[in-house]
Amino acid sequence: MSAERKDDHVRLAVEQQHRHGGHNEFDDVSFVHHALAGVDRGDVSLATGFAGIEWQVPLYINAMTGGSEMTGAINRDLAIAARATGVPLATGSVSPYFKDPDTAGTFSVMRQENPDGFIMANINATTSVDNARRAIDLVRADALQIHLNTIQETVMPEGDRSFSSWGRRIEEIVAAVDVPVVVKEVGFGLSRETIALLEKSGVAVADVGGRGGTDFARIENGRRALGDYAFLEGWGQSAPACLLDAGGTGLPLLASGGVRHPLDVARSLALGAAAAGASGCFLRTVVDEGVAALVAQLTTWLDQLAALMTALGARTPAGLTRSDVLIHGTLRSFCADRGVDTSRLATRSGSPDTIHRKIGSIR
Ligand code: FNR
Repeated sequence: MSAERKDDHVRLAVEQQHRHGGHNEFDDVSFVHHALAGVDRGDVSLATGFAGIEWQVPLYINAMTGGSEMTGAINRDLAIAARATGVPLATGSVSPYFKDPDTAGTFSVMRQENPDGFIMANINATTSVDNARRAIDLVRADALQIHLNTIQETVMPEGDRSFSSWGRRIEEIVAAVDVPVVVKEVGFGLSRETIALLEKSGVAVADVGGRGGTDFARIENGRRALGDYAFLEGWGQSAPACLLDAGGTGLPLLASGGVRHPLDVARSLALGAAAAGASGCFLRTVVDEGVAALVAQLTTWLDQLAALMTALGARTPAGLTRSDVLIHGTLRSFCADRGVDTSRLATRSGSPDTIHRKIGSIR
C-alpha cells in the first residue's frame, strides 16, 4: 500500500507539473530596478549559513520520495545530481522503512551516491524518537526534517486524523537527536503563529513549504474514489506570504512551495529565507528527461541566480534582504490584513543620501 502510494504521488505530482505554468504569488514580488546598483560577478558568493549549517549554495532539492523500486531509482538520480552540483537534498518520508526494513536501500542509495553531500532525512510528526534516530542513521543525515501535513492527511483516503500530539512529539525529537531539526510544511504554508511555536520547541529552522506549486490536496483528492475534496485545492498561504508574515520572528527560515526558476529563489532570499528549495519542478525534469537534464537545470539555476545577484548588487544571499521589493496583488492584500509594512520593504536599500554617496564613491 505504502509503495503504491509513493508511486501514485510521483505520477500525480508530475501530471500537476505538466499542467502548471501559470501565475503564483511569487509573481506578486518584484525588485525595484536600480541601474547603478550592480556589482562584479567575481565578488558574488552563493554561500549561505543558518542555524550553524553552512551550504555552498542557497538552493536545495526538497523532500519527495523513496519506499518503492521506482522511487528508489528516482532517489538515486536526485542524489547523483546533488553530488554533481553541490546542492543539498532531502529524502522523502522514511515511514515506509519503519514498516518494511527491506525498503532501506531506496533511501540509503542517496548517501551511497552522494557520500559527502548535505542530506536531510524526512519523517512525520508522529514518528517515535527511536525511529527518528533510525531515519538519521539510515542516510547518515546532516539534519532531520519533520513534515507537517494536516490538510494532506485530511484528504488522503487512508490519512491520519489525530493531530493534537504533533507539537509534543516535535519537542521530544528535538531534545533527543543530535542533528538540527527542520520543520516543514508540504505545500500549505507556515503562519507566523506556527513558526513562533516551533521556535519555542527548540526547532532550528522552519521551511515554510507554501501553496502555489505541488498541491497535495489535489494529489490526494485524485486518489479518492469520489474526488469529493476538490474544494480544498489551493488551501493555505504561499511561500512569499509566509516569509512576509514571519518577518521579525527569530527562527531561520527556508522557502519552498511553488519555486519555479532562479528569480523565485532570489525573491525568497530577498524576503528573508536563507535558501530556497523545490520539489515538483526537479521531479518533473528527472522523470521526463533524466539525471543529466537535472544536472543541467541545477547548474543553470545557480549560474542565473548569481547573475541576478550581480545585477541587484547583492554580494551574498543575505545581501538581497537589503534590496527594495514591491508587493502587488493578492500578496499585498494579505500583507495589509496581517499588518506587514510593505512600504518599508520598497525603500529599505537606503535613503537618497546614501545612494548619492554610493554613486559618488564610484566616480
Ligand atoms: C513531496 N513532498 C513531501 N514532503 C515531505 O516532507 N515528505 C514527503 O515524503 C514528501 N513527498 C513528496 C512527494 C512528491 C512526489 C512531491 C512532489 C512532493 C512535498 C515537498 O517536499 C514540497 O513541500 C512540496 O512539493 C512543495 O514544493 P514544490 O513541489 O511546489 O516545489
